[in-house]
Amino acid sequence: MNRLKVITTLMKQKNLKNYLEIGVHNAHILFRIKSTFKIAIDPKFAFDTARKIGKTILNPFNLYNQYFEKTSDDFFADDASKVIGNKKIEISLIDGMHQYDYALRDIENTLKYLSDDGVIIIHDCNPQTKAASGTWDEWQSRNEEGFWNGDVWKAIVHLRSTRKDINVFVLNCDHGLGVVTKSKPENVLNLTPDEIVKMQYEAFDADRKDLINLKPVDYFYEYFSVK
Ligand SMILES: C[S@@+](CC[C@H](N)C(=O)[O-])C[C@H]1O[C@@H](n2cnc3c(N)ncnc32)[C@H](O)[C@@H]1O
Repeated sequence: MNRLKVITTLMKQKNLKNYLEIGVHNAHILFRIKSTFKIAIDPKFAFDTARKIGKTILNPFNLYNQYFEKTSDDFFADDASKVIGNKKIEISLIDGMHQYDYALRDIENTLKYLSDDGVIIIHDCNPQTKAASGTWDEWQSRNEEGFWNGDVWKAIVHLRSTRKDINVFVLNCDHGLGVVTKSKPENVLNLTPDEIVKMQYEAFDADRKDLINLKPVDYFYEYFSVK
């Protein structure tokens, strides 16, 4: 199971169409999505016109892509209300700057435009090492090889502590896929933002199942009643 499979399964079986992706890179996911309403945001897209044309031949829905080469904060400040208008976002992948504050803003901003039955997927919520789990500055100063997840997990803990109007869990696959729906939370935490900022990887690791509401992959099929 990975983010592409989760997104395409939900789009097909739950009839979710309008797609927003924050943090697109080479558009490995975006270019595969079949929808006539796709918004792509990244301050630096990692693809050229030739790739765009090639991917549009393979998937003509890419003709409809709306590209915003800017930060997600700038997109929400300058463009979101015009571009999304009366439409609602029905499915979103949040995979931009992998830091607590940025990821939290991306999720909260996306929630403002999300349909009642919409789903937000957040990549990189379940880091497996201390090195992978910190801020960008920490990761760079360590100069390590490998995969940086960042502290997106703190945004999940934050939402589980502060929002009583959404349900949040993390699927145990693909570096941890956060899932947010507009429904009653299964359970909540009562940590303050100050406690979350100070929380270290060791505390997260000791209690990750409860902190991020970690679920096995099968839970995805059960929760959404999909096959
Ligand atoms: C891990 S990549 C995204 C991968 C892609 N979603 C996928 O699934 O293949 C993260 C991307 O986030 C972008 N990014 C960094 N800061 C951002 C910001 N403030 N707003 C939006 N995107 C950002 C980076 O330029 C980078 O391309």
